[in-house]
Amino acid sequence: MKFFVDTADTKEIKELRDLGVLDGVTTNPSLILKSGRDFLEVVKEICDLVPGLPVSAEVVAMDYNGMVQQGEKLSKIAKNVVIKLPLTEDGIKACKYFSEKGIKTNVTLCFSALQALLAAKAGATYISPFVGRHDDVGFDGMALIRDIKIIYSNYGYKTEILVASVRHPIHILEAGRIGADVCTVPASTIKQLFKHPLTENGLKKFLEDWEKTGQKI
Ligand code: G3P
Repeated sequence: MKFFVDTADTKEIKELRDLGVLDGVTTNPSLILKSGRDFLEVVKEICDLVPGLPVSAEVVAMDYNGMVQQGEKLSKIAKNVVIKLPLTEDGIKACKYFSEKGIKTNVTLCFSALQALLAAKAGATYISPFVGRHDDVGFDGMALIRDIKIIYSNYGYKTEILVASVRHPIHILEAGRIGADVCTVPASTIKQLFKHPLTENGLKKFLEDWEKTGQKI
């Protein structure tokens, strides 16, 4: 499974890149606001930090022409920019446009398996179903991932399932069980995956016993 980090914070991106666990980056307008940075400038900086890894940058136009214009501008920033488009009629139409030009796309704000089917038909590189926000309103976010996986497998769609709105490690565990291609995760949640109390206790005991041997390596 690929791990993308869901952030526009370049410090977090650098840290995960250096840990060797990063396969890509996703941003959205809310994360850009949180970063306090200029959108185009921070996207360029992120692309340079992770050359060759996909970096999703979202259009904010609501109409097809505006999406195409903004997407073209974003795609010129760097080779690894992925154009993030909303799951609307215009967004799906723009997805088809970019797919036909060989430009990678990430269709976002997906809340149903049938929306995911539309994105796959438009040739989306990634579909982003939001599991956490689905759970928030009393639906089962992971059931959505299961359905998308079945439909994509039934027809051999190449669109990658990018599990988004991930809130905790169990979402990632479940996504792995289902066989989702990617999880985009806040940096703090990726860091949580390293932790286990038995690892910490075990390491403490080994180091105490090693001290007692009086040896050096
Ligand atoms: O990038 C989209 C998605 O991951 C947002 O997550 O936590 O704001 O629902 P969240």
